[in-house]
Amino acid sequence: MSESEYILVTGGAGYIGSHTVIELVDNGYKPIIVDNLSNSSYDAVSRIEFIVDQHFPFFRIDLRDSSALTKIFEKYNISSVIHFAALKAVGESTKIPIDYYDNNINGTINLVKVMQKFNVKTIVFSSSATVYGDVTRFGDDRYIPIPEECPMDPTNPYGKTKYMIEQILKDVSNSDAGSDLKVAILRYFNPIGAHPSGLLGENPLGIPNNLLPYLAQVAIGKREKLSIFGNDYASHDGTPIRDYIHVIDLAKGHIAALNYLHKIGNSGLYREWNLGTGKGSTVFDVYLSFCKAVGRELPYEVVARRSGDVLDLTAKPDRANEELQWKAELGIDEACKDLWKWTTENPFGFQIDNYQWKEFSDDLNDRLHTFKIDNFKVGIINYGATIQNIQIGDQLLVCGFDNGSDYKSSSNPYFGANIGRFANRIKHGKFTLNGKKYQLSQNEGDKNCLHSGFNGFDKQNWYGPIVKFNDDKFKVDFKLIDKDGNDGFPGDLETILHYIIGYKFIEIEYESKLLNGESTIVNLTNHSYFNISNGDSIDDTEFELGTDQYLKVDDELIPTGEIASIGSAKFTLTSDKSFDNCFIVNENDDRIDTRSNELKQLVKASHKDSKITLIVSSTDPAFQLYSGDGINTDGFKKRSGFCVEPSRFLNAINQPNWSKQVILKKDETYGGKIKYEFK
Ligand code: NAD
Ligand code: WQD
Repeated sequence: MSESEYILVTGGAGYIGSHTVIELVDNGYKPIIVDNLSNSSYDAVSRIEFIVDQHFPFFRIDLRDSSALTKIFEKYNISSVIHFAALKAVGESTKIPIDYYDNNINGTINLVKVMQKFNVKTIVFSSSATVYGDVTRFGDDRYIPIPEECPMDPTNPYGKTKYMIEQILKDVSNSDAGSDLKVAILRYFNPIGAHPSGLLGENPLGIPNNLLPYLAQVAIGKREKLSIFGNDYASHDGTPIRDYIHVIDLAKGHIAALNYLHKIGNSGLYREWNLGTGKGSTVFDVYLSFCKAVGRELPYEVVARRSGDVLDLTAKPDRANEELQWKAELGIDEACKDLWKWTTENPFGFQIDNYQWKEFSDDLNDRLHTFKIDNFKVGIINYGATIQNIQIGDQLLVCGFDNGSDYKSSSNPYFGANIGRFANRIKHGKFTLNGKKYQLSQNEGDKNCLHSGFNGFDKQNWYGPIVKFNDDKFKVDFKLIDKDGNDGFPGDLETILHYIIGYKFIEIEYESKLLNGESTIVNLTNHSYFNISNGDSIDDTEFELGTDQYLKVDDELIPTGEIASIGSAKFTLTSDKSFDNCFIVNENDDRIDTRSNELKQLVKASHKDSKITLIVSSTDPAFQLYSGDGINTDGFKKRSGFCVEPSRFLNAINQPNWSKQVILKKDETYGGKIKYEFK
């Protein structure tokens, strides 16, 4: 595989596709996902990115849309295709067969036509054990466990689409034009389980048809009890036998197939492989294993057999074991454990009440996420993991733009952004670490480095968010990997930002780790501009600061080292009073991780017109108070908002007695917390 080659994954946002994309990345492949999201959500894609620390191309298109598909093949050098996209519900296929034939077969025909046009010769196809039909029809057990040679006889429209697609691919590979086509037909048995991170899994919409998704909903109280469809089969406990395969093993099977096809060179191939464990489990076996994972007995009732069910569908996986050098490694216990983690951590899958997102610019990596708790509303965008809006009823409380491009304009004064890897100023962008001198971007009047230069945390699309809702609070996680050398900073730095959004409050927790190198410097803050008046100016806001001590600065706005008092920590902001000062809360705390500190109140601000009070607290030793005099951008003028930026000391890295606050060494964690509360 060359650096520039991509693997196109159709249906990559779905259950099996999403797990396979992760395996692809882990094995050095570069995926492109195409999915019409008819049975999935873009949230799965953003979670994949969060897991693999990469953005990759995603296109929301239907496979039947030739011109859209063609554009992707034109733009990217696609070497192979893994084709998952299909409708897959057996019961539904008997009700709307034409939709199944249209989607699955026309989608595939279209895909193959475009592949031919662009000379793409490798395809891995998601087939199903369902193509074998009822293998007890032979009257004996010569095809149990089921080998690939077992004659096919699908019994429902869904299964027939899989059978027909196999035939279509076979005919193409037998044709002159397709003689060098390499086709892997993977016949999956019963995929179960979820990603061990708890971040990805099956997200069934409506009432689940399959055993484990149903049982999971019983376990979280969404369904009353499991109906076991018959206990009069000839198995050890009377319930039917299936070959349940962990979705991670299944995903790995695709890598094995792809590697195999790449290895055979330019000759053509059409070959089927069963992907199963070779070990059958009954419904009761699975039920007991899941009860063990949950830690209690779950309610069930034995009811009549389900029409179409058969006694035994166990794979003979020998061909895949030998030829693909692939073998399922995980059992039903691991799958049940992972499914239970996914279910408890995401009881509503990706559908969380009162959380919505929409596209904020033409890039899906930059979306606007909106969270609502009663009349409290918060908007956050991926770009900068920025707070775009805080609102109580109709009252807007922060400055923010309503479209993505304004955030990228040079006149944006860091509205709502998270600033990193080093907030505030570094004198002339210079510092020394472990005896080595560094020069950062000088973006403030060609002198200082301000808020990390030209490509700080505020100007990157963060991975995620991972959104969960518990105890009346949203937990929203973003992740960023800031690359070694970006704006001159040393070492790859991973930062996870946890937002907690509850009724009338937002908490921010920063957690950064160095992924390589000996040490770097870190100082993070949030740059929201608050306006709690009813008007468009912050004048007349009443302030009570948690300290009256601030750092005196020289005419380049760099501290002289002297700490002084502003006189009174209580004042009303008038138009002749402006602030851009670093206040000191604790002179003695020089730890890199301040999260174990109590949150300390830094600022209490209130306004007589709105009767709203804002309290900002933090675990950090300082904060910058800025009255927004430099604002001059679309729709916002001077003093439209004020900032309270909890952080380490201004230019701390260049003062020997402060520098420990900001030096992050290998194996340490940088940490800090901020809380905004409205009363
Ligand atoms: P899934 O529904 O989670 O994933 C399929 C994805 O394809 C979805 O994201 C859907 O939005 C997308 N899609 C459907 N039609 C499309 C179209 N016309 N254009 C673009 N995208 C489209 O299902 P899954 O369980 O991940 O299954 C993946 C594949 O594996 C399917 O082909 C399925 O038939 C096959 N399979 C699944 C199972 C199983 O039990 N899950 C078993 C055997 C085979
Ligand atoms: C498993 C066992 C049920 C639900 C289906 C498709 C197949 C493939 C995988 C796509 C059976 C029993 C189930 C319940 C139960 N998909 N059961 N109570 O039917 O083996 O395979 O999914 O290609 O094509 O047919 O899977 O999970 O529905 O059932 O007792 O509520 O669990 O009778 O024995 P199945 P399943």
